[in-house]
Amino acid sequence: MASVSVFANISQAPEDPILGVTVAYNKDSSPHKLNLGVGAYRTEEGKPLVLDVVRRAEKLLVSDISLKKEYLPITGLADFNKSSAKLILGSDSPAIQENRVATVQCLSGTGSLRVGAEFLKKHYNQHTIYIPSPTWGNHPKIFMMAGLSVKTYRYYDPATRGLDFEGLQQDLSAATSGSIVLLHACAHNPTGVDPTLDQWEHIRKLMRSKGLLPFFDSAYQGFASGSLDADAQSVRMFVADGGECLAAQSYAKNMGLYGERIGALSIVLTSADVARKVESQLKLVIRPMYSSPPIHGASIVATILNDREMYHDWTVELKAMADRIISMRKQLYDAMCAKGTPGDWSHIIKQIGMFTFTGLNPEQVAFMTSEYHVYMTSDGRISMAGLSSSKVTHLSDAMHAAVTRV
Ligand SMILES: Cc1ncc(COP(=O)(O)O)c(C=O)c1O
Repeated sequence: MASVSVFANISQAPEDPILGVTVAYNKDSSPHKLNLGVGAYRTEEGKPLVLDVVRRAEKLLVSDISLKKEYLPITGLADFNKSSAKLILGSDSPAIQENRVATVQCLSGTGSLRVGAEFLKKHYNQHTIYIPSPTWGNHPKIFMMAGLSVKTYRYYDPATRGLDFEGLQQDLSAATSGSIVLLHACAHNPTGVDPTLDQWEHIRKLMRSKGLLPFFDSAYQGFASGSLDADAQSVRMFVADGGECLAAQSYAKNMGLYGERIGALSIVLTSADVARKVESQLKLVIRPMYSSPPIHGASIVATILNDREMYHDWTVELKAMADRIISMRKQLYDAMCAKGTPGDWSHIIKQIGMFTFTGLNPEQVAFMTSEYHVYMTSDGRISMAGLSSSKVTHLSDAMHAAVTRV
């Protein structure tokens, strides 16, 4: 037996910048430690939450002995796909009624983005995708791995801690016609800054006039405002004009199904004929990647979306999660104001969704971790969903110290 591995010269890969925060947090033995790095919802008690409606759906599934564990079709569970398209596009969407939408079940939001990217690389004549700067750290990697060429457009203005709308318009105006543009449907990660509806309308007109292809990433529908419809407005505006677009959906956050890896990719097209052909080609993309998707998460989602009462109960639980996050913003903002911490902290309540982009620099972040055991990504992003009322004072103490001492 050879004692030297054929991989002996392999180098140690760096930890994922987001998941690495949790690795460091887990090693910390302080009772005061606080993990604001990960984008997963926590209760007021700091615990992960399985929605009551999800538990009920699972009980129904487990007790239904007619259900089998056979392979799903390559495109996934048909009921799940239909309901997912309705959820993002609206139940009365003409695109759905006219069979102009090709929807496939994928492995959560990430898998939906990847399948969409692989499809575009194979079948679209433009291979450049513009992503916002900054964006979720996995975006550039997903698109590069699929063979697309990644460029950025300006999005965030550190001076205002808001949208750089001028820069965004300039960069999209200068993009090669036909390029793909990645848009966060709502609750932009990491900045928490979304365009207003009026700004979305400008973006839509600009993109349509240049023939830019929208690729929406919808990872937080219902999580931003508490309303599933309000959080899908951006996508629906683009679909209402009759043009084409892609949308990747994730049920990780809004149904708390993180580890079930359940999501969908919908491609809205101009005719039923093209939609049929696109779906046939999506199958060829998926088959050699993972053959067909898993059954359990899709069955949970389809059960909830297709039952009037369960759907209603889901919206109530979803709103409660969104409201808790909004209340955390208010409590943190009030605490910063009460301390008189230098600077304007109103962005904490203006930003939307799971994250606040605090504006703290990497040195201040490192200080908060070493001195206060507060963990977050080095760009100063904190998950409001990881905060609870009992930890607000500790966090505001840490932020105050970082701003005044570092
Ligand atoms: C902007 C954005 N897109 C997509 C995802 C994908 O998540 P998942 O693959 O768990 O659905 C996330 C998760 O953090 C995200 O923040």
